[in-house]
Amino acid sequence: MQTLTTIEETREISRELSKRGKTLALVPTMGYLHEGHLSLMRIAKRSADVVVTSIFVNPTQFGANEDLEAYPRDFKRDEALCEAEGVSYIFYPAPESMYGDGYSAYVNEDNMSKGLCGASRPIHFKGVLTVVSKLFNICEPDVAVFGEKDAQQLRLLRRMTTDLNFPVKILSAPIVRDPDGLAMSSRNQYLTRQEREDALCLSKSLNLAKQLYANGERDAATIIASMSDLINDFKTPKIDYIEAVDDRTLAPVSTLNQPTLMALAVQFGKARLLDNTVLE
Ligand code: PAJ
Repeated sequence: MQTLTTIEETREISRELSKRGKTLALVPTMGYLHEGHLSLMRIAKRSADVVVTSIFVNPTQFGANEDLEAYPRDFKRDEALCEAEGVSYIFYPAPESMYGDGYSAYVNEDNMSKGLCGASRPIHFKGVLTVVSKLFNICEPDVAVFGEKDAQQLRLLRRMTTDLNFPVKILSAPIVRDPDGLAMSSRNQYLTRQEREDALCLSKSLNLAKQLYANGERDAATIIASMSDLINDFKTPKIDYIEAVDDRTLAPVSTLNQPTLMALAVQFGKARLLDNTVLE
């Protein structure tokens, strides 16, 4: 395994692989890797000859009062995990090489990025779409793998890839959870013991939604109210949003008569956690 820190060498290696007829899969991450990230690498490995993982805590997707500085980092540990998964290259750029002096070009999406997480994190998706475009241009992958855990991000990246004609096939990976049901996240390590216990309310509320749906409930407001009651019974969580949206367009739905993404964001102390499920 090789760690690449410059844009030039990364592009050169990608082009060399392509000349030799090898396909390349990219797994973009912000590091502090867990089983969720590793599941993406396994999918990448099955879908292409060579896997490159990027590790970059992307400053442009963090708001001014968010956790950019505090975001957990452990490159040595990440390196060992990538090696064990059979990743061939880690792209690990310095922030200055990605965003040099005078940097001012961004990728925006005008519709699906406005709701859900976009409502409370207005610059977030502009940063995500920009950095992933840059990673596509630098690594020139044939395939890129993203997790369903970040459902809005995944849908926006598919939209961007189509709309901007990136020659990249987007694959998605199911949510990987701890044995008790909490979706894995690098931010889970911010949780205190009490918050970690309470955080189970996320998967519990989604299971409740699935159960109500299975019993024939189709009214979004009723399902959301039940989820909200369940979460508010715990001490530490503060709900940012619980929403029912069209799985494809992310437009809010009031009656669940199409595949519906139930998505939520809840704050536990310093950690803002996401979870979701699709009801269909
Ligand atoms: P990060 O949070 O590190 O996540 C990297 C990838 O891992 C994303 O595609 C995310 O959806 C996926 N992932 C995270 N937790 C997961 C879980 N429990 N199960 C399955 N997949 C999971 O998402 C980002 O970084 C950034 O926004 C990025 C796309 C790298 C752009 O900076």
